[in-house]
Order: sequence, then C-alpha cells, then structure tokens
Amino acid sequence: MRKRVIAANWKMNGTLEQANNLLDAFAAAPLTVNENKIAVFAVPAPYLILAKEKLSGNPYLFVAAQNCYSKKSGAFTGELSVEILKSIGIEYVVLGHSERREYFGESNAFLADKVNICLEYGITPIFCCGEPLEIREADTQNAYVAKQLEESLFHLDASAISKLIIAYEPIWAIGTGKTASNAQAQEMHASIRSVFAGEYSEKVADSISILYGGSVKASNAAEIFAEPDVDGGLVGGASLIADEFIKIINA
Ligand code: 13P
Repeated sequence: MRKRVIAANWKMNGTLEQANNLLDAFAAAPLTVNENKIAVFAVPAPYLILAKEKLSGNPYLFVAAQNCYSKKSGAFTGELSVEILKSIGIEYVVLGHSERREYFGESNAFLADKVNICLEYGITPIFCCGEPLEIREADTQNAYVAKQLEESLFHLDASAISKLIIAYEPIWAIGTGKTASNAQAQEMHASIRSVFAGEYSEKVADSISILYGGSVKASNAAEIFAEPDVDGGLVGGASLIADEFIKIINA
C-alpha cells in the first residue's frame, strides 16, 4: 500500500520564534499519523536541526530540506549538500518546486542530477511537477507534466523510482487561493500514474505516492485527499498556521 503523506512547505517564511512556536504546536498536537500516513515539514535550512529535535517524539513526523545541490561537497558557496543533510539526519528533500524552476532557473536535467545524488545518499526526493496557467488554458498539461517526469526521472530503474514521492502543483493554484477542482486534481494524478505505469509497470505506479499542492486548506483538504489517486498534499501558506495544518494532517 502506498503511503499517505501530508507535507508542509514553509518556503522562506518564519522567524526563529515563529518556528519554535509552530514546531511546539505540531509536536504537542494529537495527529492521526501512523506507519501508513506521515507528515513531513520542509522548513528553512537554519531550522532543520531544531525541527528534527522538536519533532523527535513522534516517529511519523519527518523533516525535509526545501532544496539541495547536485554535488556531494565542495566550493559551492551558499548551497546545501545531501552530505550535510544526511549528517544531520534529514530524510526528505523537496526538489523542483515551481518557484525554484521559475526564479532560479532549475531545468529538468539539473533536477535529474539532484534526484540522483539524493537517492545515492538514501534521501527521499519529494519531486514537484506542474504546469503554468497558459499550458492549462491550452489543455496540454498532461503532456507538459509527463515531459517534466520523463526528463528528470525516467533514467532511474524501477527500484529507484519507487522510492520517490511526487507532488503535483499546478502553478496557477499556488498561493492564489484558487485550488484545482477535485476532478482536475484526480485527472492529473491518474495521468501521472499512467505515465509511470507505461514507463515502468502498474505495480511501480501503484506504489508511488502522488501529493497535490496548491491552495490546500483545512476547508478543502478532506475532499481533495478523498480522490483515489491523491495520496496527500504539499501545503504552503496553510502550513504556517498551526491549527490549520493540524486539521489538514487529520483530514
Ligand atoms: P500554497 O499552499 O500556499 O498555495 O503553496 C503551495 C505550494 O507551493 C507548496 O509547495
């Protein structure tokens, strides 16, 4: 059975005081997590160790980096390596978020290198894909997303690809308050799964968790997560409000 994953992406938000308060709230909250349903917190890099410590009392809460570099170590000022992340016990990394693609020019090929080094170090990539508005309006989103997957992931063998988590985030729904409809989310998630089935096998496709991201809130989480191919969410804004995100985890 594939895992349900509810992931918080704090992005570049929160002071140390706010991070402390949020992490304390999540650590103390009654959360319906278990071995089949986990929560992952992608916090800003300076809070990674703090988050690990604060959430350590619950074995189903994990901490993720929001990015990493494609090289093991070396003269890459300002970057974060998987070697560093591994050494502080980080098990997940968000890769290919649309903000990284758009503002920092990350290409599908560059992301392939990042995926490789994460897997080499036993770190699970939460690999983001998703189309901009003009692609959705042209109704070519399925092919657009399939190409993102193909160019960054399809060099992997079946055992490697099965380790990934995919997050589908339509760019037009991120931070806009405009969520994809349940039907739009389900349709794309089914399309992504069929792309994996075609390239690998039904068994591989069935094993991969595919999260939806884009204006997920406490008020819409349960209905989106109820779609058969939606295995959880990647949540931005609402993950910075303790009560909201606790409700989303428990949705
Ligand atoms: P919002 O939930 O703020 O729309 O952000 C989604 C997102 O980009 C999560 O990675």
